Amino acid sequence: MKSFASDNYSGIHPEILQAIIQANEQHVGSYGNDSYTEKAISLFKKEFGAQAEVFFVYNGTGANVSALSALTKSYHSILAPELAHINVDESTAPEKFLGCKIIGIPAADGKLTPQAIEEKIIRINDQHHPQAKVISISQSTEYGTVYTVDEIKAIKALATQYGLYLHMDGARISNAAVALGKSFKEFTSDVGVDVISFGGTKNGLLAGEAVVFLQPNLAQEFKFISKQSMQLHSKMRFISAQFVAQLENELWKKSATHANAMAKKLEKALLLFPEIKITQSVDANGVFALLPAHIIEKVQAEIFFYVWNDKTNECRFMCSFDTTEEDIETLAKAIKKALVSA
Ligand SMILES: Cc1ncc(COP(=O)(O)O)c(C=O)c1O
Repeated sequence: MKSFASDNYSGIHPEILQAIIQANEQHVGSYGNDSYTEKAISLFKKEFGAQAEVFFVYNGTGANVSALSALTKSYHSILAPELAHINVDESTAPEKFLGCKIIGIPAADGKLTPQAIEEKIIRINDQHHPQAKVISISQSTEYGTVYTVDEIKAIKALATQYGLYLHMDGARISNAAVALGKSFKEFTSDVGVDVISFGGTKNGLLAGEAVVFLQPNLAQEFKFISKQSMQLHSKMRFISAQFVAQLENELWKKSATHANAMAKKLEKALLLFPEIKITQSVDANGVFALLPAHIIEKVQAEIFFYVWNDKTNECRFMCSFDTTEEDIETLAKAIKKALVSA
């Protein structure tokens, strides 16, 4: 049964699976010493610029924690939205492996603003207080919203003013690129993002993310960090081959375009119910909506989705590369039925 639970409830995109099968022959070098990894790195450089340094890791938490590890010492703090994955959904992995304090900043739509960040940059040079070192933004955000290029530029200007690094959690960076109608480079390298956790899994990969440094000097020690963080895959070719398939013929764009379009259709379908209120701008592949409490379980029984906030009954509906219009119809019918039977 299909669902709107998460973009990682979906399976592997058939073209990615095919790429894994094709890579499954012969013996090749391990730990990234193979032609798949070489090709994947060159494709990333095409997207982000020749200066980009690229490392493949297993998962999003690992990408975030290892990337941030290259930027921080344990007496630093990382400024992020309250709802950031690093703040609420990575258990205490960032705290355990970085030792840093994560400062959660309220962000009603998931996006940080320079003003909100600046309020938290305090007690500079005071040894009693964690020293701010990184601003971390998610693109697209945990609320399915997307920073504009100008919004990222403004955050970078603040980062530069205070000597902070800018990290982008790009678990859904492809959805953001499609939403903006921009190349990856235009809202990352060109505006001064220092390092990206580049997502693959949520856009059709079996597993695999990339840590992309846009300032090569920051990558100098990353090969040690990646191993120490247990993120160095010995059969690296299987992650790399997936990224080759993803980037070579813009499969990433096809998948994300579809997921975003489905989210728009879903929003339209939900707007037909006066009892339902959309709570966030549907920029990428997620739809957030308030549902009447009494219908939630009935609808979930027919097609699953998560309650995001059980105090307000705000629910989250995620679309992925394999979401269909029939799935949206199934959801709409289930809502209609539940409302009528109430
Ligand atoms: C914004 C964001 N970052 C990172 C991740 C990746 O996490 P994982 O470690 O589960 O791959 C997720 C997954 O839910 C996410 O939503």
